Amino acid sequence: MSYASAAATDAPAPGRGELNSAFVVATTPTGYSPGRMACMSGYDAIADLYDPWSRSVVEDVAFYTEEAACAGPPLLELGVGTGRIAVPIAAAGISVIGVDSSAGMLRVCRERAGLAGVSERLDLRLGDLRDPPVSERLSLVICPFRSYLHLSDDADRLRALRAARRLLVPGGRLIFDVFAPGEDDIEATHGRWLEREPGIFERADWDTCSRTLTLSVRGATGETTMSLAWISQTEWRDVLERAGFTIDACYGWFDRRPYDGREDMVWIASKH
Ligand SMILES: C[S@@+](CC[C@H](N)C(=O)[O-])C[C@H]1O[C@@H](n2cnc3c(N)ncnc32)[C@H](O)[C@@H]1O
Repeated sequence: MSYASAAATDAPAPGRGELNSAFVVATTPTGYSPGRMACMSGYDAIADLYDPWSRSVVEDVAFYTEEAACAGPPLLELGVGTGRIAVPIAAAGISVIGVDSSAGMLRVCRERAGLAGVSERLDLRLGDLRDPPVSERLSLVICPFRSYLHLSDDADRLRALRAARRLLVPGGRLIFDVFAPGEDDIEATHGRWLEREPGIFERADWDTCSRTLTLSVRGATGETTMSLAWISQTEWRDVLERAGFTIDACYGWFDRRPYDGREDMVWIASKH
């Protein structure tokens, strides 16, 4: 994906929306304790803004729905958010367990599931993706839309990946997407307020030394500032292998084109 407006390339320019919204950033909840999750996520403040903000992000829905259809139910979505992915999967007849640390995002997800008539196929749980409140064993765990970028360092990444692996049956798969920004994206967006959708503004402040992005979002119904951390493809590969995964694929987009060094990575890893 590109944070800048569509780049001119031979291939159709993958773009998770025109500007930045695709890389929604969540803060690692501070002072997390399982019993006291309320109001501890940066997403709570923008729960009602999230769907209008990410309105144009649709390119991954068919990909995750296809993967879900190949796996046996139920599947687990970590960082389920407002159900942008989980609700279409449930609408395809597949039961989903959804974990999220934001009570506000889960509230919106419940409303969305109700409107879509799929509430009975969505099991929503408040919790941390590094220690998900899940005892079931699953053949598929997904973590779409860069939610793993909330993890600030390798210790956190390892913890989250090991937790996901523990929940998988032998042969089960973890599928997630992340990004590492290109210089052009950084240049095009750094330190500027951009109108992502009508009345919804975002600002990206990139720190290329620490490889962290501070993302601010504001609109009529809420505002927040969050941070995320990125690492390279090689580093993701390394941390996945350290967590015990076998890597099946690293795509560069949801059409399964090979990763070629651009921003987006779509990982498929399995437990053997
Ligand atoms: C970018 S949104 C993705 C939401 C949804 N998967 C989608 O595709 O639209 C990231 C989600 O991860 C959640 N999140 C962030 N950190 C988390 C954590 N440590 N544990 C569980 N959920 C977390 C946020 O609350 C938010 O709903």
